Order: sequence, then structure tokens, then C-alpha cells
Amino acid sequence: MTTPPLTAEAQPILAQLPALGVGLGFRPPFRAGLFLARDRVDFLEITADHYLETSPEKERELALLADHFRLIPHGLNLSLGSAEGLDPDYLGKFAALVARLNPPWWSEHVAFTRAGGVEIGHLAPVPFSTEALDVLAANIAEATRQIDVPLIVENITYTIPLPGREMGEGAFLAELTRRTGCGLLLDVTNLYTNAVNHGFDPSEVLDQLPLDRVVQLHFAGGEWHDGELIDSHARPAPPEVWALLEEVVGRAPVKGIILERDDDLPPLGELLDEVDRARSIMKAHGRWA
Ligand SMILES: [Fe+2]
Repeated sequence: MTTPPLTAEAQPILAQLPALGVGLGFRPPFRAGLFLARDRVDFLEITADHYLETSPEKERELALLADHFRLIPHGLNLSLGSAEGLDPDYLGKFAALVARLNPPWWSEHVAFTRAGGVEIGHLAPVPFSTEALDVLAANIAEATRQIDVPLIVENITYTIPLPGREMGEGAFLAELTRRTGCGLLLDVTNLYTNAVNHGFDPSEVLDQLPLDRVVQLHFAGGEWHDGELIDSHARPAPPEVWALLEEVVGRAPVKGIILERDDDLPPLGELLDEVDRARSIMKAHGRWA
């Protein structure tokens, strides 16, 4: 007999999730430095995909990280937006990783990475339509049936206005969380990037979101390319992202913030300065003691 999917009401109450503070998206180049700076990193986010098929080396790395830090698994390829449904093999491995780490929540993107059985190799945005909501809700129901830990979903960037759009980004994310009971991993850099590229006010999107469902934030800096802001996550966060991050922390019961720096990694100390600054913002708003 299969278990019925969790309804929005049956999802664990997000407000009861623990506050984790501020940390980093783990990247192997700064593994050694991390252990010397443990008091400046409250938790780590790991890319789940790197630990689903573990080599002995990755297995040792995961065990070492888990011994010293709270780890939140962040998926890239569950492909919640795929009309063909989830890959049961991938989902099973992800469920095993979550069971092993026992995190307070786990996260994936509002996106698809697989279409027609083809892996497309990057996060593709879904149109803001009722049809996409139906697909996401069905896939999230399947995922949460197998992973009994709260799922939070992340907003991504889109470079062109998506065809088939029936509503704005804020209304879409609000309806998605209402239907699924999921929390939000609000990437403030992605929200800022979309706002700049598509000419809207990010605060107006915040007005539409159920801010009580914002559990975690991502932030980083992007760069300009041919007149478009790209979420390269390869620069320090600019003043506008800091301002938006502070606005969100002031308005939403944020439990954790991750600096998600992917490329052009600077010395770890520079990243830790940004982590410290984000932590001071959480403290200033009573989100972290
Ligand atoms: Fe992100």
C-alpha cells in the first residue's frame, strides 16, 4: 500500500524549524580553511548531487563535514518541473542522503533539468502557468512522500520573459507554496537579478509572497554581460543585494542564510566577511542570538 502524499496542512510547521544562522555553500577548494574557521560558519549547504554516488573520497569528505557542521542538502537535478515526473532512482538516492544527514530541511529549485528523458545540464525555468503548478505540485507530492523532512523550494533566474505566463513570479510562488505546503528558499540575488532584467520592483514580489514560509536565503553577487545581469555567483554581493537581503530578514522569519559563491572563489576570509555581515543583519532583526 502506498502512503498518501502529505497535504499542505500535514507538512510540518515551518515556524518550528530551528534557526541555523549563516553559513556557506560548501566548495572543496576551501575545505581546509573551513575547519580553521568553524566559529564563523554556523552551517553548511552541500550540493546533494555530489554525494549521491559516493566514491570513497567523497564518502570521507561527507563524514568529515557531517562530524563538524550541520549540513543542509541542496539538490540540482530532482527536476521538480518535469512533466514526465521524477526519476525514482535519483529520488531514492536523495532520500537516502537526507535520511543519513537528518537535516531540519532540504531544498531544490523551481525548475526542470530533464525533458523527454534528456538531461539538459542546467536549471531551466518553468512558465508561470497553472499547468506548471500542476506538474510541480504532483512532483513535490511524490518527493515529500519519500522524504519526510520539510522541503523548501528556490526561485531561479530567467533571461527572457517565459511564454505561457499566466501570472507574475510572486503570485506563482505564493500559489505553489499554498498548494504544496513547502517553504521557500528565497535567493535574493536571483530575485534582484530578475527584477533588474525584467524591470520590476523586488519589494512588490515580496508583497505577494507568503513571507511566513521563507525559511532560508541564498545570496551572492552576479555580473553584467551584454547589458544583462547574470547570476554568476562569482562576485561579492553588491549594495542592492545587501539592501534586499536586509529587507527580507526584516520581514520574514528567516532561519538560515547561505552565501552561495560558485566561481572565482576568493580567499576564504573574504567570504567569511560576507557571512559575518549577514549574521549581523540576522542578529539586528532578532533572527539569530
Ligand atoms: Fe541559489
